Amino acid sequence: MKRKIVITGAAGFIGSHVIRLFVNKYPEYDCYNLDNLTYAGNLENVKDLQDKPNYHFIKGDITDTEFIEKLFQQHRFDGVIHLAAESHVDRSIADPLCFIRTNVLGTANLLNAARNLWKDDMEGKRFYHVSTDEVYGSLGAEGYFTEKTAYSPRSPYSASKASSDHFVRAYFHTYGLPVVMSNCSNNYGSHHFPEKLIPLAINNIRHNQPIPVYGKGANVRDGLWVDDHARAIDVIFHKGRLGETYNIGGHNEWSNLDLIKLLCRIMDRKLGREEGTSEKLITFVKDRAGHDLRYAIDPTKLRDELGWEPSLQFEEGLEKTVDWYLANQEWLDHVTSGDYQKYYEKQYQGR
Ligand code: NAD
Ligand code: TYD
Repeated sequence: MKRKIVITGAAGFIGSHVIRLFVNKYPEYDCYNLDNLTYAGNLENVKDLQDKPNYHFIKGDITDTEFIEKLFQQHRFDGVIHLAAESHVDRSIADPLCFIRTNVLGTANLLNAARNLWKDDMEGKRFYHVSTDEVYGSLGAEGYFTEKTAYSPRSPYSASKASSDHFVRAYFHTYGLPVVMSNCSNNYGSHHFPEKLIPLAINNIRHNQPIPVYGKGANVRDGLWVDDHARAIDVIFHKGRLGETYNIGGHNEWSNLDLIKLLCRIMDRKLGREEGTSEKLITFVKDRAGHDLRYAIDPTKLRDELGWEPSLQFEEGLEKTVDWYLANQEWLDHVTSGDYQKYYEKQYQGR
């Protein structure tokens, strides 16, 4: 079936993997990458797609209400996969309003534009909102987030994502907009911007720079290989029940310290350094304000209803991730030049 799908934020980390999967797997779909190329958006992430006849790029800002309305009327999309967002918790602590604008207003603009375009015929239309497990708040040592866990966001980032999730559900209940959502755990893999822990640590180890670990490194994250997330989005977009959310995660919990130690061992081996060299770079720094202790997803609903399973666990996935970064050091050098240096100094100096 021919379809016209707009994928927002597809010049970013996860979006680039999602649009690659869709462009290659569904040549009959026209896929539009809508992205305004913030510091996190980079067309190099999708350069392998630029000559494909079913891939198109539109530079545009989802917070611009008039622009988004006109764009939907002009292109008459029948599917939306919405990933564009401000995504980094530390940046949300420094500038919460930017997160409210992009994540809340931006999502509302897209919902409105889809509603106006589809109001007379919702058949075959679909609005997919990509969200995070961070909306559920922080777990203690036990338990898992399920789709029924009450929302309890604790950072400006997660509060803005929670708010956008509520708007998506409100448009389903109030206007009958055909929506589907997912809440996913921490992703890792290629093209990940080095403000997040794993790519930041890879980059610092490469340069023999300190690896900043917040607090005691005891916080736990549930890591998911980014292509497994993209596969889950594919299956939920096509087969997920309208109005439902699906939690995506792979039971892959690691404390930050254990994860960094594993990464150090892999990097020592790949760089031909003596074992233990990179671990010496680990530096404990002042903790993040309001730092959530533990995230862990129960993905039973997605597995039982739609048959999705993760394909990789950390040991294998991290090896592949490190291989990609070492083979693409130009990419890292490019994204860490300019503004990144200023960000890094502001974020880590005196910590
Ligand atoms: P990212 O920061 O790497 O990419 C975000 C993309 O959105 C960038 O290309 C950026 O240019 C674009 N963008 C930002 N503001 C925009 C605007 N106003 N208009 C148009 N484009 C804009 O983020 P990511 O890690 O790929 O996350 C993608 C989505 O997945 C987000 O919605 C995030 O909340 C969600 N998510 C991320 C993770 C994770 O571990 N990274 C986990 C679960 C859910
Ligand atoms: P991050 O990659 O920012 O993802 P999130 O905050 O969305 O989970 O951080 C992952 C974990 O690593 C989190 O517990 C915070 C911690 N962290 C550090 O210890 N040092 C760092 O420099 C960064 C960026 C994160």
